Amino acid sequence: MKKKVIAYNRVEKPVLEDLQKKYDVHFFKDIDTKKDPEFLEQLQDAEGIIGLELEVDQKLLDHAPKLKIVSNNSVGYNNLDIEQLSERRIMATNTPDVLTDTVADTIFGLLIATARRMPELDHFVKQGKWKQTLGTEHFGTDVHHKTLGIIGMGRIGQSIAQRAHFGFDMDILYHTRSRKPEAEEKYQATYCSLDELLTQSDFVCLMTPLTPETEHHIGKREFQLMKKSAIFINGSRGKTIVEQDLIDALGRSDIAAAGLDVFEQEPVASDNPLLKMKNVVTLPHIGSSTYETELKMSQLAARNLEAGLNGVKPPNLIDDSIWSEA
Ligand code: DGY
Repeated sequence: MKKKVIAYNRVEKPVLEDLQKKYDVHFFKDIDTKKDPEFLEQLQDAEGIIGLELEVDQKLLDHAPKLKIVSNNSVGYNNLDIEQLSERRIMATNTPDVLTDTVADTIFGLLIATARRMPELDHFVKQGKWKQTLGTEHFGTDVHHKTLGIIGMGRIGQSIAQRAHFGFDMDILYHTRSRKPEAEEKYQATYCSLDELLTQSDFVCLMTPLTPETEHHIGKREFQLMKKSAIFINGSRGKTIVEQDLIDALGRSDIAAAGLDVFEQEPVASDNPLLKMKNVVTLPHIGSSTYETELKMSQLAARNLEAGLNGVKPPNLIDDSIWSEA
């Protein structure tokens, strides 16, 4: 009998088709996973889960007594209760590395688009408002040779630093859990305290994963420490900031602008005040979303899943300790 696998929200088609040949795959998308009777029934004898943004908590795990592995199709895994999973000796995996350059491209693109007001000016042209030579009211701000502060200098943070240093001659400040001598050497990045970074940066780019320690990490105090001309970029998760404090900071002109790929609630509510602000550039959480990279992520997620189902250590096991203890 084929092993049962739940696929959730996003697994690229060729990968899903391949999994369907080998496993009894049940695909669900955007359902209420707390209540959907079909989903809860299939969970009962599922051995694997693969997919994106499925909230895997104690309640879900109580419905899945046979589960061996949860293979997240993203690098972030704030949707998984790792403690609960490890306690039950269920493996959890993510998809690092394959998306690093793609996310760095997106976030650096967002930074430029925000600084140079590209979406706003695109709208201006398309609405037929470009009737005469433009004046300062339409000018943006330079990116090159400015100071970029990166909070969270993991793989993606470093990849952003690479673009900023080599492509735009920017000075780089960073704040992260542990110093990165390699980034200091390669990109002349300077490690500093969070407050120093906030007060000195022209661009503040938030790239930390969402954990209990980083939840609501950036709020009123932090926005007020930033320069009035600062541009804030969030490429991490919506909940790493206090979103209302960002709205207030923009409203009070404590900072100049923001570029956001992530929101407290996703999809973002249509009445979110951020959507009405001209100086805010918004993206629908598409950091890693290119055809090539989403395919690589799905392939890696499938490799992790299959390893786990076959009793082999998955390449991207998040909590290694459950393997050595096994
Ligand atoms: C991730 O993989 O965690 C990124 O947010 C892109 O979705």
